[in-house]
Amino acid sequence: MSIQEAAGAAFRQAYGTEPAGFWAAPGRVNLIGEHTDYNDGFVLPFALPQRTIAAVGPSTDGRWSVCSTIAADPVTFGVTEPGEVTGWGAYVAGVVWALREAGHEVPPVRIALASDVPLGAGVSSSAAMESVVLTALIDVGGLDVPLEKRPAIAQRAENLYVGAPTGILDQSASIRCQEGRALFLDCRSYEVEQIPFDLAAEGLAILVINSNAPHQHVDGEYGARRKTCEASASALGVTALRDVSVPELPQALERLDDDVMRRRTRHIVTENQRVLDTVSLLRSGRVREIGPLLTASHASMRDDFEITVPQVDVAVQAALESGAYGARMTGGGFGGCVLALVDADRADACAAAVATAYEQHEFTAPTSWVAVAGPGATRL
Ligand code: GLA
Repeated sequence: MSIQEAAGAAFRQAYGTEPAGFWAAPGRVNLIGEHTDYNDGFVLPFALPQRTIAAVGPSTDGRWSVCSTIAADPVTFGVTEPGEVTGWGAYVAGVVWALREAGHEVPPVRIALASDVPLGAGVSSSAAMESVVLTALIDVGGLDVPLEKRPAIAQRAENLYVGAPTGILDQSASIRCQEGRALFLDCRSYEVEQIPFDLAAEGLAILVINSNAPHQHVDGEYGARRKTCEASASALGVTALRDVSVPELPQALERLDDDVMRRRTRHIVTENQRVLDTVSLLRSGRVREIGPLLTASHASMRDDFEITVPQVDVAVQAALESGAYGARMTGGGFGGCVLALVDADRADACAAAVATAYEQHEFTAPTSWVAVAGPGATRL
């Protein structure tokens, strides 16, 4: 059964009727630019082919209901305030809340979700859920919400309703990415450039390796990184660390009296530059040459931002030893996925090399797949 059929079946089972339509929104991997989003910086994600699909139909009682193939009993709610719906339903109630907050008349609907976006793997399954619900509500209600304004609404749902202090990377990727492109996003202006990203044409592939490492301390550590970055910006007298350039970095570091602040700052400032350098190389078709930037990004996350775990470090090392041009952890950190830029005909060998290294370390086996840049949120 396809994901769309599964969503339709869940809808019929929960509500005893046919859905009026289907919407889809993808998970993402971030090619480069980690933790730069909430520092007003640059990111370069692309959409995964794995998507969350929503089967949607009108509600009969003015309330909203949502169920999924995992949770067959619908969560039902009326107009709510943050805190009233908890658990996974909060992502959906949060989107309804954020749209209403933005002044929109949100149509009451019933929703059934199905997804093949891996959960808890750091590839934005929650943003895919927010984005598919947001897109469906906008379409069903005929709401006037331009594409570039949508990610911030989904982000408000996550920040203020769900209560996770994330940036705008994931929702932007799920909503604004295009097939065959990577999304170069300026997280301050929300301006984007769609960068052609057809790796197959170059004989290349991005292998995504799910470390399957248990996520630990994710929320607390994420929030702590964000606070330190904000404290550094304020100590340096800038709006955000985006405002510090690489040439200015040595002087900025001298002005910070705390070693942790210095290392966090160095990651953000150098990571922003790596995004810009990656974009320049991609624009001029020099795809293989982005490899060292990916690997440098990983080292910076490991040593300066301190968000990696042994499983992702081992995956990166094994991928590089098996001939990858570059490899890095992608996403918020403390587990999740690694991506490796490889010759397309070496993708299997790279996956096998990582699996062997995991065996040697007695880690839970990784799961790998080749990711091709898919489309953003859409009506099906
Ligand atoms: C998580 C957050 C994003 C971003 C990344 C790290 O995915 O949701 O906003 O900060 O981590 O780049």
